[in-house]
Amino acid sequence: MSQSLATVAYLGAAILFILSLGGLSNPETSRRGNLFGMVGMALAVLATVFGPRVSPAGIPWIIGALLVGGSVGLYAAKVVKMTQMPELVALMHSLVGLAACLVGFASYVDTSVQLTGAEKLIHEVEIYIGILIGAVTFSGSLVAFGKLNGKIGGKPLLLPGRHWLNLAGLLVVIWFGREFIHAPTVAEGMTPLIVMTVISLLFGIHMVMAIGGADMPVVVSMLNSYSGWAAAATGFMLSNDLLIVTGALVGSSGAILSYIMCSAMNRNFISVIAGGFGSGGGAPAKSGEAAQPQGEVVAVSAVETAELLREAKSVIIVPGYGMAVAQAQHTVYEITKTLRDKGVNVRFGIHPVAGRMPGHMNVLLAEAKVPYDIVMEMDEINDDFPDTDVAMVIGANDIVNPSAMEDPASPIAGMPVLEVWKAKTSIVMKRSMASGYAGVDNPLFYKENNRMLFGDAKKMLDEVLTVLKS
Ligand code: TAP
Repeated sequence: MSQSLATVAYLGAAILFILSLGGLSNPETSRRGNLFGMVGMALAVLATVFGPRVSPAGIPWIIGALLVGGSVGLYAAKVVKMTQMPELVALMHSLVGLAACLVGFASYVDTSVQLTGAEKLIHEVEIYIGILIGAVTFSGSLVAFGKLNGKIGGKPLLLPGRHWLNLAGLLVVIWFGREFIHAPTVAEGMTPLIVMTVISLLFGIHMVMAIGGADMPVVVSMLNSYSGWAAAATGFMLSNDLLIVTGALVGSSGAILSYIMCSAMNRNFISVIAGGFGSGGGAPAKSGEAAQPQGEVVAVSAVETAELLREAKSVIIVPGYGMAVAQAQHTVYEITKTLRDKGVNVRFGIHPVAGRMPGHMNVLLAEAKVPYDIVMEMDEINDDFPDTDVAMVIGANDIVNPSAMEDPASPIAGMPVLEVWKAKTSIVMKRSMASGYAGVDNPLFYKENNRMLFGDAKKMLDEVLTVLKS
């Protein structure tokens, strides 16, 4: 393939990636967005493999690597459960970081192209920064993977003087950067490069270890952004324009997503990154003790739940992580259809961080064919709870926790939540009184107008559906 044809293919791929991101911003166009992304990626891979910069002798190696990587990816995509998706994403981000590091070291030891003067300086700066971002992304993503799958506890690790430690690390990295640039030979430049890599790896570990369970969604999207910048840095090292454009797209969209999630959780981005917020496992909050919920819990049966739903004129369903675990979305759809056929106004209230990944609930509801026009964002529906007869919470906990608004000492204080307790009756469907992801007690369960339907969401909803249909 000639250089000009490869450039045209790269341009086409870049446009497809932009269209893909545009499509993914809305559930109705997300399938098309996905398709654009897939075609763009296929075009990018073909133009690179058969482009002018790969010698024919290297093609079998690349195809071999593509087959191995593709098979691992296909297998992972098939076996991973929807609820494990964030872990998989975190693991994939770590691979982008690792690739940036490896490409950085490889370009440094590659002496086939002799650069001098400003070109050499720019290339070395690219290598240094590329490896730095790559190493932080790699180790940070591995820790995020461990935290998301529970192998590492959700409690933030708060080392004494941690901000000073970070600052000292930064200064050492800058100093070694100077040493690296002035190193007369590759062998001499290797020492500062390796020291910086080790510090960056430690920084990545420290940064994510210091972040509490409740703030993990922001961390995952932030690492997504870092992986984009790591890819862009790799693009600079390899002089690959498409990789620079794609990396910048991922980096900036990840940064925007982190910002949106911070606003959704009423967190300041800097304070999330600085760490220590949102302790997991029910650890005490920073100042004062979070109030213990008081009152009685009223349990109801599936029959009583069905009756409450049948008598209601308006119902808002709030799905959460438990609906995903129970895979109850299809029954939820059947119940919605049955109630709507009876003239009940049924809508869904989606919290921005419901479940375990951005858009988790929207994906599940779309899969079950719930019409998009009754699926509302939290801000669109929160004011409607006082005029709602029944708010049905399915496997959600933190996102409907009133202590976020009422108790300043709560670890999730300040996070906007769906105000289900303002409905005439709220019904919470979950298996036990256990806390949610943030490890915080939920006073909603004890409110006078709240009912608890204990059991697996799918099983209970199947029973409710049977009664509704009878
Ligand atoms: P959670 O607060 O985690 O609560 C989910 C509830 O579902 C649990 O309390 C659990 O109670 C119940 N449950 C689990 N399996 C169930 C089943 N089979 N049937 C019925 N109920 C079941 O979920 P949420 O309200 O969706 O809030 C999301 C939380 O995850 C937030 O804290 C958020 O910050 C965090 N987070 C979000 C993301 C993104 S991007 N969405 C990423 C990482 C973390 P039982 O055990 O009693 O059944």
